[in-house]
Amino acid sequence: MSKLRFFTGIQASGTLTLGNYLGAIYPILKIQDECEIIIIMIADLHSLTVPKPNFNYRKNCYEIASLLYACGLKEEKCKIFIQSEIKEHTELAWLLSPYITVGELGRMIQYKEKKKSEETGNLALLSYPVLMVADIFLYDADLVVVGQDQQQHLELAKNIAKNFNNFCGKELLKLPTFDIPKFGAKIMDLKDPTKKMSKSGNDYISLLDEPEKIVKKIKGALTDSEEKIYYDPAKRPGISNLITIYALLNDQKKEEAERELQNSNHYQFKLKLIDLLNKKLSVIQKSYSDYFFRIQEIVEKNNKHLKILAEKKMFLIKKELKLK
Ligand code: TYM
Repeated sequence: MSKLRFFTGIQASGTLTLGNYLGAIYPILKIQDECEIIIIMIADLHSLTVPKPNFNYRKNCYEIASLLYACGLKEEKCKIFIQSEIKEHTELAWLLSPYITVGELGRMIQYKEKKKSEETGNLALLSYPVLMVADIFLYDADLVVVGQDQQQHLELAKNIAKNFNNFCGKELLKLPTFDIPKFGAKIMDLKDPTKKMSKSGNDYISLLDEPEKIVKKIKGALTDSEEKIYYDPAKRPGISNLITIYALLNDQKKEEAERELQNSNHYQFKLKLIDLLNKKLSVIQKSYSDYFFRIQEIVEKNNKHLKILAEKKMFLIKKELKLK
């Protein structure tokens, strides 16, 4: 049996999008049998960087956790837990802060983009990647998988680990393998396929969207005037994004999807995609309600399990820093 320990995180800020599903969840489904444990953190503290009045973070954590299990992650192997329940995350983030400069944090693309859209450059937005780095190193993971948008944060994690380990004179922070899927790591917005699909974007698909919404959104997805269907993300971002979604949902390579679709026009292709999406989502949505009913109990058990691992790691780190 493999001893692979997998880690990733997902924010608690609304629903899960098709981008989250194909970029982050789908790759886990593919490898879950090869892992000994899959640790998925619902990053509620990360969601606080932009305060949302009246937003029920805890309820949202339970919704996201239920959805993740409903996507097919196995309960016995996949430990979904809530970040704010384990104080070692924020504690380690503080201890790692001296190993990164404000200049480096200010160069993070996500920080620059969010600062523009929120019109504030609050401290949490700036220091957010350090918390993410703490998340990564707290569980001695072997493998961390994220979508394309998190690539820069992974580079930062490598730098911080290098600086910290140099200071300690040993590899106290274990560098995992970082993986970004080759295909599907950046699902694009349906109305503006030059931008990443995100909850704050123009048009995204939620895993909880009803069939009528899917019809409307896919029919309204921006394509181009060339009828033939082929993959060329640089020249044809809209149709290429739809091919990516179709191929992944169908478990196909993009070439296989292209071959299958070569005689379809845009309209016929969109109908096929609508049908496929609705079939997939209806399975997830049915299972979601079953999980939601008992998710609190599952997550509380996971929180306790992971707290033990986090405490052990923190003890070693604090001992090294002569805080113990
Ligand atoms: P978040 O919540 O924005 O996204 C969760 C995961 O989904 C991926 N993703 C996408 N993949 C493909 N296409 C898209 N359009 C798309 N949108 C999102 C993201 O890359 C991510 O893998 N900071 C992280 C959460 C986090 C984390 C961590 C991740 C906190 N600590 C430690 C890994 C390790 C975030 O905001 O993800």
